[in-house]
Amino acid sequence: MSFLGLDLGTSGLKALLVDDAQNILAQASAPLATRRPAPGWSEQDPADWIAAARDVLEQLQAEVPTALAGLRAIGLSGHMHGATLIDAADQVLRPCILWNDTRASAEAAQMDAEPNYRAITGNIVFPGFTAPKLEWVRRHEPDVFARIAKVLLPKDYLRLWLTGEYISDMSDSAGTAWLDVAKREWSDTLLADCGLGAVQMPRLVEGSEAGGDLRPDLGAEWGVSGPVIVVGGGGDNAAAAVGTGTADEGDAFVSLGTSGVLLAAREACVPQPQTAVHTFCHALPGRWYQMGVILAASDCLNWLAARVGQAPGDLAAALPERPDGPSPISFLPYLSGERTPHNDSRIRGGFLGLDIAHDTADLTRAVMEGVAFALGDSLIALNSAGARIDRCLAVGGGARSLFWVATLANVLDLPMDLPEAGEMGAALGAARLAICGAQGSGALGKPRIAQTILPDPGLVAQYRAAHEKYRAIYPAIKGLI
Ligand code: XUL
Repeated sequence: MSFLGLDLGTSGLKALLVDDAQNILAQASAPLATRRPAPGWSEQDPADWIAAARDVLEQLQAEVPTALAGLRAIGLSGHMHGATLIDAADQVLRPCILWNDTRASAEAAQMDAEPNYRAITGNIVFPGFTAPKLEWVRRHEPDVFARIAKVLLPKDYLRLWLTGEYISDMSDSAGTAWLDVAKREWSDTLLADCGLGAVQMPRLVEGSEAGGDLRPDLGAEWGVSGPVIVVGGGGDNAAAAVGTGTADEGDAFVSLGTSGVLLAAREACVPQPQTAVHTFCHALPGRWYQMGVILAASDCLNWLAARVGQAPGDLAAALPERPDGPSPISFLPYLSGERTPHNDSRIRGGFLGLDIAHDTADLTRAVMEGVAFALGDSLIALNSAGARIDRCLAVGGGARSLFWVATLANVLDLPMDLPEAGEMGAALGAARLAICGAQGSGALGKPRIAQTILPDPGLVAQYRAAHEKYRAIYPAIKGLI
């Protein structure tokens, strides 16, 4: 028997095939491109997701045909908030507007000023959320808006292709600004405010519940021998929480993906929107989580790498394993605007304190540190929202850099645990949800830790002072950008 986690990330789609004891049988990935046709815009073509899914399934079939033949359940995870608009014939009406697209900032601010949104969803209406994007489409592309039969989140568009059904899960739907996050149901009031109705929304299931059956023709194409269920799955952060066993009060992880996330599991829904912390449903029933989100984490390193013509991994490899103190250069990672704690889609990044002698390695170090300080701001916001964090798992592609993780340990003043399969967080979470859905239980547990990086007691005070300096820069430059 095998179980598949499919994680639709911003930079690529990952597939992870596991057995019922969560042993990894095979993995595959396919890259995805993002288009930026205007400043602040960020779009993907949903057809590319299907092509990538076909690609990874074909890779698995070539590599482990027998294991794939025993497939019993698929779990989906995906980048959140994207508006995938389809007509009555399931045709995509326009490119998907992604989570880091800030074109709908005016619409978001107007909606956020209406008390209903924060009261019902427990969150600020951030420009990246789905609802303001629909409002933008209503205003700027009325012909498209008039033809919308369903609004789907990115992973749920993949599900439509896999199963032919319109279904979403609670954790991903919590990021639309149309979900009553405490009650885990669509809000007719908020949908009506956007000129939409529940009929245009997918049916809701919990992350580990069955959410459609694999189309027999696809199963046959991939040589699968029996029926396969597709479970609800989760938004990528909730799926990563499942993958890392972040389920109970006190459990937390930091993710250095395209975006950066500091996430704490919560056993109750206790929103504090004024902190700019997100409060969303977990992919596990009866659980929620709170997180600070920064819009560019690894994206900042990728940006620098592209500018200096090197691979991000080579930039990271040029640094030592441990930092010896804060950088003299300050870097603000606001390349796509910022969510936590500023909720400012207009702000942009910058370097401060450049010296004629500084080289590429100095810039790399400053970029990693700036991202760590931004996540330090999220820790302050989470603490004020009532989340308790005593230690933290570090996951995502950026966590391959020990320098980066050690910098985070010093800035957050927390022990950082590096799980053995840290880059597989969301895909593993999706696979775990698939096991839960097919077998009705279990499949959680904490990951095996490869190494723990402790804060350096001799450096923590220096990083605290440097973080204070960093925090003073945003208010100083806000009016200048
Ligand atoms: C979460 C968010 C990002 C995306 C990235 O609110 O916008 O973390 O899910 O994949």
